Amino acid sequence: MSTLEPATLTNGITMPRCGFGTAPMVGEEATAAVTTALEAGYRLIDTAEAYGNEDAVGRAIRASGIPRDELFVTTKFNRDWHRRSGPAQALGGSLERLGLDRVDLLLIHWPNPGLDGYVAAWEGMLALLEAGQLRAVGTSNFTPAHLQRLIDATGMAPHVNQLQCNPWIVRDRERAFHDANGIVTQSWGPLGRGWGHDELTGDLLTDPAVVAAAQAHDRTPGQVVLRWHLQLGLSVTAKSATPERIRQNLAVDDFTLTDDEVARITALDRGGAGIVDPDVFGH
Ligand SMILES: NC(=O)c1ccc[n+]([C@@H]2O[C@H](COP(=O)([O-])OP(=O)(O)OC[C@H]3O[C@@H](n4cnc5c(N)ncnc54)[C@H](OP(=O)(O)O)[C@@H]3O)[C@@H](O)[C@H]2O)c1
Repeated sequence: MSTLEPATLTNGITMPRCGFGTAPMVGEEATAAVTTALEAGYRLIDTAEAYGNEDAVGRAIRASGIPRDELFVTTKFNRDWHRRSGPAQALGGSLERLGLDRVDLLLIHWPNPGLDGYVAAWEGMLALLEAGQLRAVGTSNFTPAHLQRLIDATGMAPHVNQLQCNPWIVRDRERAFHDANGIVTQSWGPLGRGWGHDELTGDLLTDPAVVAAAQAHDRTPGQVVLRWHLQLGLSVTAKSATPERIRQNLAVDDFTLTDDEVARITALDRGGAGIVDPDVFGH
């Protein structure tokens, strides 16, 4: 099976596995990067209310001329909307900023357990799904305990949980919980760079295990790490503002890491260090 084959969500909807991340780009930089990404072939675009770039991302999507049905647009909402009626209001605001008439996947961006509103928000999202206003519903940065509360309250697990995941933060326990409940794992910070990784020293992309595989396959370290995610069955949202890297990060379907290479890269896990704790942080 091609690793670029889309993921099938539990409601039968398909979602591209290689997404384009847009934070922290805003304004013209975001529009230019999304334009390049769409030209390169990305069909999943990941944005959020919190990124302040839905307007710029929407501009690129609308100008691309790509039929809307061929695209999969994800956005996420902030803590202000953690109540039953919140997701409908959040979705309305996102659609207006994006200039689109629908998003495909809406995510609760962070659980914010201190607010204790994520179950109510989840019920609001299920109502939107039921009404046909969303194709899929999900969460981001939810732990198995948070997810279990949603399942217990509504009988329905998210289609997708987007969480910080890369060879330093392998997330065995979370991925096992997702697999057991039909939840697609989508990695943010898939390259171990960018926001949230300041605490971790070093550079994942210069680690000998990654570099050796890159040399063996005549690919870049970034491509090797993204390929690692795909071979683990994950979806990714890599971000780049650099046209060459944008194209490179999607060109990961023409080589296969050996089991040994996957194992060596997986062994880079730092045992939970560097995880942004969703019981503490959230917006
Ligand atoms: N749900 C959440 O809470 C959450 C949190 C954080 C992020 N996200 C989403 O996930 C996306 C990705 O996460 P992220 O941006 O934090 O991290 P990332 O995609 O792992 O890393 C992005 C960084 O890596 C560099 N880069 C990209 N491709 C590269 C390559 N092939 N070789 C070397 N360096 C490369 C980029 O530089 P250049 O841009 O300079 O090329 C940028 O500095 C975000 O854009 C956002 O959409 C979600």
